[in-house]
Formats: sequence, structure tokens, C-alpha cells
Amino acid sequence: MNKKQNKEAVCVTGANGFIGSWLVRTLLQQGYTTIHASVYPGSDASHLFSLPGAASDHVRLLVYEANVLDDRAISKAIEGCTGVFHVASPCTLEDPHDPQKELVEPAVQGTLNVLEAARRFKVRRVVVTSSISAMVPNPTWPPNTVFHESSWTDLDYCKSRQKWYPVSKTLAERAAWEFAEKNGMDVVAIHPATCLGSLLQPSLNASCAVLQQLLQGSKDTQEYHWLGAVHVKDVAKAQMLLFETPNVSGRYLCTDGIYQFGDFAERVSKLFPEFPVHRFTGETQPGLTACKDAAKRLIDLGLVFTPIEDAIRDTVESLKAKGFLRQEQLPS
Ligand SMILES: NC(=O)c1ccc[n+]([C@@H]2O[C@H](COP(=O)([O-])OP(=O)(O)OC[C@H]3O[C@@H](n4cnc5c(N)ncnc54)[C@H](OP(=O)(O)O)[C@@H]3O)[C@@H](O)[C@H]2O)c1
Repeated sequence: MNKKQNKEAVCVTGANGFIGSWLVRTLLQQGYTTIHASVYPGSDASHLFSLPGAASDHVRLLVYEANVLDDRAISKAIEGCTGVFHVASPCTLEDPHDPQKELVEPAVQGTLNVLEAARRFKVRRVVVTSSISAMVPNPTWPPNTVFHESSWTDLDYCKSRQKWYPVSKTLAERAAWEFAEKNGMDVVAIHPATCLGSLLQPSLNASCAVLQQLLQGSKDTQEYHWLGAVHVKDVAKAQMLLFETPNVSGRYLCTDGIYQFGDFAERVSKLFPEFPVHRFTGETQPGLTACKDAAKRLIDLGLVFTPIEDAIRDTVESLKAKGFLRQEQLPS
């Protein structure tokens, strides 16, 4: 990842979200000077202009308001770019009232609209932000085997348990591969685990809310939504690495290890004993095989993962600074 000026013009969808903002920050840091920031119409993107380098004379950070379901608007955002980072997709902990409309359609049709525009404008490569939620839960995975990129989420299993977020991410990724193959496009997918780190955006995103709730005593085991965690800055670095490295293809798991959510809670509790973090007994992810270097494909490309303790500390500091976390004291 060498820093040089006049890199390709790129579009980032979901640019003002948690991962999107870190990606814009990383692209600016690495010398990208034309960035189309595609954001949901009416949402706040002002924080992007406070990122280091955003206000430089030679930088063109342009905001495009585009619902990913609006193919004309998304087309305008992508026109003039040779790279696209598709990040936008509903990412929520709330149970949807209408899963198809709220989660599945924006994920799937949104991805197809982005890819169609990228095809039309002859974009060189599209980096699709998928998720571990397109890999797990997968109850048919062989026991005592570390999860890797060949695992796909079991849709029937998720639907029968009303787990719509994994359904949306799985169908979106499948649609992306089908479209890419049919149209001979260069698409690469990244599969982040639970992303943590400082919030650059003003609102609280779902993955940082997982840590916030854990710190406030939540007993949710994250049974269906967990493989491990990763610093959001490493995700942004990995997205850029996957855009810049010539011979990459397929799926890239992005996590600093695979382990139980209960083990994560232990680490959080050790770092922040003043918070009432629940101590889980037994396995929170039954049968999950732990592995430190699970993101082997990215490690082989040179990515060095930030220790998860740093990501936890950064998140907590940021949650406090933004007023999303009160300093709770355990009764003495
Ligand atoms: N955070 C994680 O732990 C994690 C892990 C794996 C994968 N991912 C994936 O990473 C991506 C970004 O997630 P995030 O954590 O950064 O969450 P986030 O902060 O909620 O970002 C999602 C972004 O997508 C935008 N969006 C949603 N629906 C849209 C639509 N119909 N049209 C245009 N924009 C739309 C949101 O805009 P508004 O906020 O204005 O609605 C927001 O900017 C998602 O694809 C998510 O599935 C996240």
C-alpha cells in the first residue's frame, strides 16, 4: 500500500457509515484524491469533511445522495470512477417489521444496482463488503474444523429462526457473484467479523452497540452473529488492499481470530472491570473451533491485524466521548 498521488477515482457507497467513514479516511491518507461518497439521501455526511486531508485543495471529495435502490442516482455516483467500494447495506440489531423490504431488498437489489452501474462505466474492480454473516451460521460445517471462506450461511436455518440480517448478506453476495460471472466483472468480497474502533460518524452503529450493550450488562450471546472481532481500521486497510492488489479474487475473511463471544466478554471485563460485563458460562457459539490466524488469505497479502484489545479500548473511549456510554460503577 504505497502512498502516491493521483490514484484512481473511486466511489464508496455507505460512505458516511461506520466502515464507510473509515474507508474514506484511509483512502485520503493513502493519496486518493477523487472520492465519490455515496450516502443515503438526507443523511449527515458532514463529518467526512473533517477527516485528515479532506479539505486539501487537490482533493475532490464529492457527496452523492443515492438510495442504492435508485439505479439512476447510484449510477451518477459511480460515473467517472474506475473503482467502487460497495459498503452500503442496512446493518441493524433491531428485528425488522418487514424483512424483505427493510433488509433483503436494499442488500440484494442495491448490490445489483451498484454492479450494473459499475459494468456500464467499465469500473476496473468492485470490492463488495459482505460479512461473516454470509459464512455463518452454517450448521452443516464439519465439526472441529476452523471456519474459512468456503463456508456459506444456511438460509433455511436462518429463516426458520427469523435471522434476517444473515439472509440479506448471503443473498446479496450470491447475487454479486452471479452478476460478476455473467458479465465478466472483477469483483472481490470481504467478510468482516464484528467491527470495533472509534466512531467517526455521529450516530451509533450496530457493531459498536454490541460492545456498548455488553458493557451495560447484556446477556445476549450473539449466538448467530459472531465469529470474532476486528478493528475497523484494519477492515478499511483490507478493502483498499483488495482494490489495489492485482491478483486477488473470491472471498476474504477479515477478523483478528475466531473464538467464542464469551471469551470476548472475558477480555472486555478484564480491560474494564468497572463495568457490569456478564460472565458467560459454557459455549456461546456451540461447537465453534477457535483459531488465531483465521484470516489467512488477508494475512498472506500482508495485512497485520491490530490487537483486539486496542479496538475495544478505542471503541469504549469513543462511546464515552460521544455520550453513548455512561461510566457505570459496580456496587462495591
Ligand atoms: N460493522 C460490522 O461489524 C460489519 C461486519 C461485517 C460486515 N458489515 C457490513 O459493512 C457494511 C457497513 O456497515 P457499518 O458497520 O458501517 O454500518 P452502518 O454504519 O450502519 O453503515 C451502513 C451504511 O449503509 C447505508 N445504507 C443503508 N441502506 C441504504 C440504502 N438503501 N441506500 C443507501 N445507503 C444505505 C447507511 O445509511 P444510513 O445510516 O443513512 O441509513 C449507512 O451509511 C454493511 O454492508 C454491513 O453489512 C459490517
